[in-house]
Amino acid sequence: MSQHQEKARIIRFEQLSDDNIRLTLHAPLIAETAKPGQFVMIKTGAGKDPLLRRPFSLHQTSSNGQIQIYFKNVGRGTSILAHSKVDEDLDVFGPLGRGFEIYLDKPACLVGGGLGIAPLLFLAKKLYRSTKDNSRDLIILGGRSRQEVEPLVEDFQQFGIAVRCITDDGSYGMKGFVTDVLKSERVVENGEVYACGPDPMLERVYEICLQKHAGCQVSVESVMACGMGACLGCNIPATDGGYLHVCIDGPVFRAEDLVWSL
Ligand code: FES
Repeated sequence: MSQHQEKARIIRFEQLSDDNIRLTLHAPLIAETAKPGQFVMIKTGAGKDPLLRRPFSLHQTSSNGQIQIYFKNVGRGTSILAHSKVDEDLDVFGPLGRGFEIYLDKPACLVGGGLGIAPLLFLAKKLYRSTKDNSRDLIILGGRSRQEVEPLVEDFQQFGIAVRCITDDGSYGMKGFVTDVLKSERVVENGEVYACGPDPMLERVYEICLQKHAGCQVSVESVMACGMGACLGCNIPATDGGYLHVCIDGPVFRAEDLVWSL
């Protein structure tokens, strides 16, 4: 698969909550080849500060050559991006990594927690622009509070799929965790679950999938320095006794290929 380095112009800047921002970038080569679950590396500052590119999952792409990223303003790199302006250019490299394997013949359940909601919009678009039977499908969106969930709900509702929202503090949707919903829904049985979020959430999702005989793909979060398999900074243990690179073997894995503490 080919990667591209593009000077991507910022087309749109959306402050979706106090800390969460969505950028739309013109990056036609990346938009043309990207798959749901893949990511890009972005140089967030000019010169050598910060030195390294930062990974961002692809939130969605469009046929007019645009890509979107969705992030939380939590550190040096994202703070610089949070102060970027429309018409500025960013140095973007991608698409990188292995994305979701899409099964159109199985009921689908998309499970996103916190910023893990971001890449699922791209996946939902791919799933529901196809001829997939979506009558037994479900999208579960969760986060700590309203701010993490509400801004993206309408984007998911456009597909006509049932969307369940849940927050840790009950400030939006039900009170609890995405796994509470997953566990109670019959729709998941013998289906395919596509999950993205923090590791403890993914582990619990996999546990429920085993009980429900559902396939489980997880998009794993990791610190990344190079994004290309060169620095060994993103290794995680695999069930075959070896290690996998999140950046080139993932970030999406079949859950059974990873070591969990179940
Ligand atoms: Fe360098 Fe994965 S980020 S090997």
